[in-house]
Amino acid sequence: MKRILLVTMACFTLLGSPLGSGMASAEVQSLRGALPLDVEPQSPDVNKWQQDGPPIPRAYLQQPPLIPHNVEGYVIDTRQNKCLTCHSWAKAREAHATKISLTHFRNRFGTETADVSPQRYFCTQCHVPQRDVPPLVQNEFKPVNALSK
Ligand code: HEC
Ligand code: HEC
Repeated sequence: MKRILLVTMACFTLLGSPLGSGMASAEVQSLRGALPLDVEPQSPDVNKWQQDGPPIPRAYLQQPPLIPHNVEGYVIDTRQNKCLTCHSWAKAREAHATKISLTHFRNRFGTETADVSPQRYFCTQCHVPQRDVPPLVQNEFKPVNALSK
């Protein structure tokens, strides 16, 4: 009994000491910076969605391509999917858009489907429009060999 009490007390002392808490907080850095949680962060200029342009180079083969055009007001719900009005196999040629690839017709069991798989219906889960803002986190990632010239 006495031993358990001693061990418990030792643990509390360590947690409460500057050593215990200081170690964890020094390594974790929030993207919010030092901004307190009850202060709304200033979002970058909201009007600066990248306007329509050519496809953006991919960084790796399996990457969902970034959206090179404005998608404001494009509704995707159970009744309508604005993206498919241009990117479906039926409409892509006419819209001069890239048609969704065959992986978008495969469900989670790997079965090929006759129409867009439910897994790939909500396009903006994976494909994101772009804004011209400084990166939140710097990184030195280089495209894989298969994509570099
Ligand atoms: C009005 C027609 C239209 C609509 C609606 C539309 N797109 Fe596009 N999209 C295009 C065109 C045109 C391109 C550019 C094709 C090119 O220049 O090769 C494009 C390009 C893209 C690309 C880049 C493809 C690549 O190979 O890099 C993605 C991803 C994309 N759109 C996703 C979406 C998503 C997601 C939505 C819905 C939120 C959407 N699009 C709605 C016409 C449209
Ligand atoms: C679960 C993630 C996911 C969802 C949801 C999704 N995609 Fe994709 N998409 C990808 C990935 C990954 C790729 C690149 C590899 C590939 O072709 O599968 C891709 C590729 C594409 C391409 C380029 C095809 C090509 O041949 O180069 C277009 C266009 C596209 N998606 C449009 C859409 C549209 C429109 C929707 C909604 C109907 C959608 N995607 C939903 C992940 C997704």
